[in-house]
Amino acid sequence: MHDFLTKEECFELLNKYGSPLYVYDEETLRQRCKEMTGLLPNKHLFVDYSVKANTNIRLLEMIKEEGLHVDAMSLGELASNKKAGFKSDEIIYVCNNITESEMREVLKEGVLLSVDSLSQLETYGKLNPGGDIIIRFNPGVGAGHHDKVITGGKKTKFGVQKEFIDDVKKVLKKYNLNLVGINQHIGSLFLDYNSYVEGVKNILEIATHFKGLKIIDLGGGFGVPYHGEDRLDLDKLSIELDKVLTEFLDKYDNKDVIFYIEPGRYIVCECGVLLGTVTSIKDNYDTKYLGCDIGFNVLMRPILYDSYHEIEILQRKPNNRKETYTVVGNICESGDILGKDRLLKKANVDDVVIVYNAGAYGYSMASNYNLRSRPAEVLITKDHKDILIRKRDTIESMMNYE
Ligand code: LLP
Repeated sequence: MHDFLTKEECFELLNKYGSPLYVYDEETLRQRCKEMTGLLPNKHLFVDYSVKANTNIRLLEMIKEEGLHVDAMSLGELASNKKAGFKSDEIIYVCNNITESEMREVLKEGVLLSVDSLSQLETYGKLNPGGDIIIRFNPGVGAGHHDKVITGGKKTKFGVQKEFIDDVKKVLKKYNLNLVGINQHIGSLFLDYNSYVEGVKNILEIATHFKGLKIIDLGGGFGVPYHGEDRLDLDKLSIELDKVLTEFLDKYDNKDVIFYIEPGRYIVCECGVLLGTVTSIKDNYDTKYLGCDIGFNVLMRPILYDSYHEIEILQRKPNNRKETYTVVGNICESGDILGKDRLLKKANVDDVVIVYNAGAYGYSMASNYNLRSRPAEVLITKDHKDILIRKRDTIESMMNYE
């Protein structure tokens, strides 16, 4: 799974492109795309890659070649999608709390929009009476690896509650809007498919309140194992989903309705690793710290969600000794911890740190905090060439807007 780079190649890449560095594997990316497009072979399924996980345009181009569509949740994401070659009808704008002027820009692009509150529906109705619209519902259940990423159920800002269906119908009528689809997203990272299937049943129930829908978007959230868990059983998920969708179609008036799924993490997570450099080893009271150049401005998931990422040390001078380290970055906050109490190969300054499963919500959440550069991104192509697909920030580029 993680074997697309040898240790020597990691050293060479850092020499060539600098440290820290995101590196992506084309083959793994394409494989994950195929797994998702093949999920429901007997149903009319579109896979919308949720680009917030990784917006690199070169990756988006390959994802397009694999036949996926995309979502967007900001004008920036919409622009990258367009730059990667996606046509307006291959994009859905699944947004949250946007301004009227943002809506106007999306309409100008001819992209279908999903709103997730009655007041946003009103704003849309005033702006584009008689237009097509998608509405995001809250199916009443949520799932995810952390409270912060659960987007369905009673404790989230997302979606319209089922109880407001009559109000939705009133606003639709008031502005003569055409409800072409409904969508949901219950949260990010499930490995047990039951909660997803439960959410799907709920959105399908909501769908029965509206005639002639063309799109039912079931959402994303498909997880990958970060810590040795069992993989998500796609075969079983496929069987369960197919059953539920077939039962729905038997009764629904539009048999040509298209089902969408919106995976982000599943597509890009495992194709990416993050390389960094060991900069210091020290004891502070009871803890042995391994300091490196991967601060939380580069990978934010551990400090934000206590997320676990597998870490390995690539030794310049190999030996078999091991040591327990708390791996930390170069940001001036004590929370800047990449991994706590990890038993790793004994490290020396200049050894390499490799962080796995870094392709999703890695670079896309990176920042210039402490005025540090966001790293460069490199692609390892199918024929095993390395190409630079995003430059590292420079001091000048960071000052550009001041
Ligand atoms: N659709 C919608 C409307 C979403 O809001 C999201 C993710 C997705 C699809 C894709 O979810 P995925 O398949 O990637 O789980 N930064 C967090 C994850 C936040 C997800 C936000 N929404 C993390 O690093 O775990």
